[in-house]
Amino acid sequence: MDTIKITVNGTAYEVPEGGTVLEACRAAGVDIPTLCYDSRTEPYGACRLCVVEIEKLRGFPVSCTTPVEGGMAIRTDTDEIREIRRSIVELLLAAGEHDCISCEASGICTLQKLAYDFGIDKPRFELEKTDKLVDDGNPFILRDDRKCVRCGRCIRACHEVRGQGVIDLVNRGYDARVGTVFDRPLHEVDCAFCGECIQACPVGALLDKKSRFKGRDADTEKVKSTCSYCGVGCQTVLHVADGKVVRVSGAEDVPPNYGMLCVKGRFGFDAYQHPDRLTTPLIRVRPDDSVVYNREDLVDLTFRRATWNEALDYTVKRLTEIIEKNGPDSFAMASSARATNESNYAAMKFARMVIGTNNVDHCARA
Ligand code: SF4
Ligand code: SF4
Ligand code: SF4
Ligand code: FES
Repeated sequence: MDTIKITVNGTAYEVPEGGTVLEACRAAGVDIPTLCYDSRTEPYGACRLCVVEIEKLRGFPVSCTTPVEGGMAIRTDTDEIREIRRSIVELLLAAGEHDCISCEASGICTLQKLAYDFGIDKPRFELEKTDKLVDDGNPFILRDDRKCVRCGRCIRACHEVRGQGVIDLVNRGYDARVGTVFDRPLHEVDCAFCGECIQACPVGALLDKKSRFKGRDADTEKVKSTCSYCGVGCQTVLHVADGKVVRVSGAEDVPPNYGMLCVKGRFGFDAYQHPDRLTTPLIRVRPDDSVVYNREDLVDLTFRRATWNEALDYTVKRLTEIIEKNGPDSFAMASSARATNESNYAAMKFARMVIGTNNVDHCARA
């Protein structure tokens, strides 16, 4: 990888060539606060929190959109820079209605952290509050405009990460806010309810409605898992409180989904702890608990819980009997798109190599 030499706050660093001043500073181990920056989307330059000073450049360039060049002398933490950042945070706090006490994002909110880091007790400014929308008209996503900092991350996530493009900035200036075409509710536009916008939001303006008041981030244990709704195998983080999954987020930085999820993976977590969920094998039995062997016996039947050994022994016995009596082609293997490729491969091999039939089918067959 080609590198360039820069100095940051008087110290010399060698960093990868290309990219932005923000990325170069972070590569050098110097952090710069950001709010609108999202490494997965094009630089946007909306919040201006990431301003720096660069020798021979006038003013305070925004580091997340300024290309880095060899020989740059960058300053990230002067009194003037701190004052600019502090004023931005105060204006954002003054423009919204931030009640951290009941906010789901408390503890992981970037604005809250910035306010704390700058020691802001109460913003110096008072701004007139405009009517702010609370969009509660769909089953999954709550948009609370009172807490929105207009960073545009949800919009870019919807357009550039998800590729859906159903939300955008509407109105101008102080009245600008995130909305849909003709302000129609999300379920009336082409929203996929993937929740990518929730995951991208750095504050508490977008919430997973099903998770609300069930456990903030600090109150939940994070368990890495694999979504079982289909064979893509998206990597998830289950947020668990009191032994129950209360929220699911996409695991970032790992394939195949890099944080993205679909509506089932993100919001379909009720099924994991539903009382009807099968947790043991079941064997179909007669009322007197005797096992059913023939189709003619399929009357007045019930299911009995079984151990895996019992269920596997029963399956082996029945398959052996059927194949001995009717031949291997009396057997068919129907596999599932919800299983992994590896499981489907093993199922196919089992049918062809162990049973001896080519009767193999799958629900994802076109
Ligand atoms: S969005 Fe952040 S700053 Fe606003 S109320 Fe929630 S936690 Fe507090
Ligand atoms: S849920 Fe997905 S499709 Fe709907 S607005 Fe959010 S990012 Fe866009
Ligand atoms: S809803 Fe969240 S992500 Fe979207 S613009 Fe507002 S603060 Fe940014
Ligand atoms: S992070 Fe650079 S302008 Fe927002």
